[in-house]
Amino acid sequence: MVDIPLESLTGGSAPAGPSSSGRTFYLETFGCQMNVHDSEKVAGVLLARGYRPTSDPDRADLVLYNTCSIREKAAQKVFAHLGKYKKAPEQGRAVAVLGCVAEQEGERIFDRAPWVSLVCGSASYRRLPELLDRLEAGQRRVTGLGLDVDETFETEVTRRDHPFRAYVTIIEGCDKRCTFCVVPSTRGPERSRASGPVLAEVARLAAAGYTEVQFLGQTVDSWRDPGPPGLRFSELLLAAAATPGIRRVRFTTSHPRDFGPDIVRAIDDCPVLCEHIHLPVQSGSTRVLERMRRNYTREEYLETIAMIRSSRRPISLTTDIIVGFPGETEEDFALTMDLLDRAGYDGVFAFKYSPRPNTPALEWPDQIPEAEKSRRLALLIDRQRQIQVERNGKLVGSGVEVLVDGRHEARGQWTGRTSGNRVVNFTSPMPDLLGQYAQVRIFQAGPNSLVGEHTR
Ligand code: 5AD
Repeated sequence: MVDIPLESLTGGSAPAGPSSSGRTFYLETFGCQMNVHDSEKVAGVLLARGYRPTSDPDRADLVLYNTCSIREKAAQKVFAHLGKYKKAPEQGRAVAVLGCVAEQEGERIFDRAPWVSLVCGSASYRRLPELLDRLEAGQRRVTGLGLDVDETFETEVTRRDHPFRAYVTIIEGCDKRCTFCVVPSTRGPERSRASGPVLAEVARLAAAGYTEVQFLGQTVDSWRDPGPPGLRFSELLLAAAATPGIRRVRFTTSHPRDFGPDIVRAIDDCPVLCEHIHLPVQSGSTRVLERMRRNYTREEYLETIAMIRSSRRPISLTTDIIVGFPGETEEDFALTMDLLDRAGYDGVFAFKYSPRPNTPALEWPDQIPEAEKSRRLALLIDRQRQIQVERNGKLVGSGVEVLVDGRHEARGQWTGRTSGNRVVNFTSPMPDLLGQYAQVRIFQAGPNSLVGEHTR
């Protein structure tokens, strides 16, 4: 696997491909980090074929949408975008739908948007070169669908979007079958990548100058080494953290069911492992958790949190919550609100339940009215905002280390993240800090970010 450096893109020089030199592609991504990283791999395949990236979808020879179907709104967005390309075929241009909407809707996409010529789900990206051959030969309605896979999608070439922070897929798909979730039917069964190739990729990234890696998976902590040496997930984290040059290792998303004390011990023992755990709870009510088929109770989840909180490091904790799941009563919702207080999350992604195709909860009769879902969501966001103000407020006066990843020119501030994944905006006399680790003293805190000044 080769990483194409970012500079080669801005300079417009991509490796010369055998069949497609001179053609351009426009690729837009929706959804999770997994999709973002899939797009990096797809871009790698296209660049290796001689395509050049363009930011202008109206001029691109190949327009690709890497789509998300986790909630209905995300899926609808795709069709709204596709509407813009009706004339593409007569202009000699091709439109492709990739990702979860592709897998979910399959060939129905051709009925709704007949100008689309390629539909390909994430479990079929390995076949992209062959599918592109057919597309380039002028074939219409090319498909890569089906979930009958036992490997993950790795490409010879990956075009990473970020110069010092890199995503690494370690496990794909999901076998949990939560009753609300579309992922098992869009990304297929769970499959882990072997530790050998994962660690080799980390070593290559370090050699290329990356200092932060983020392991990705829908249920990252259920990773199991498929072959020798048979590492556990926490051992994989430690092995990655031991790679010379790597200063931070993150991972997302953990499932409470698979989350063990060895992970917290590893974070405690190894400063390179980031002090952040994203542990979606979805609901604070055991009754709802059962109906969601989450396989843990409210009490078990709270025990896991107590275990995390007993660590020596100040591990920050974030979560996902769904409000208005079918049958969620006022009482159930009150339990979720109460859980917010008990858990003391540093961040919450909260969503209104959205009925999804191929999921059991779609059919359930006790759906919650939209207005009620909105009311609950607003209450939850408001309460969590107060909690974050309080929690972040405690950091005023402290010193943190920030990996600098951006600059707000107008505000004269640098921006980056702490090991605990908090956003910090800060001033500095230094002319260029991008990609550097800066020590920052915090003097102000808001619900979603901290403000500070560079100390060294
Ligand atoms: N409706 C609303 N939110 C959902 N999520 C997953 N499926 C649904 C759905 N049908 C949320 C969960 C998950 C996050 C990625 O998206 O909270 O953790």
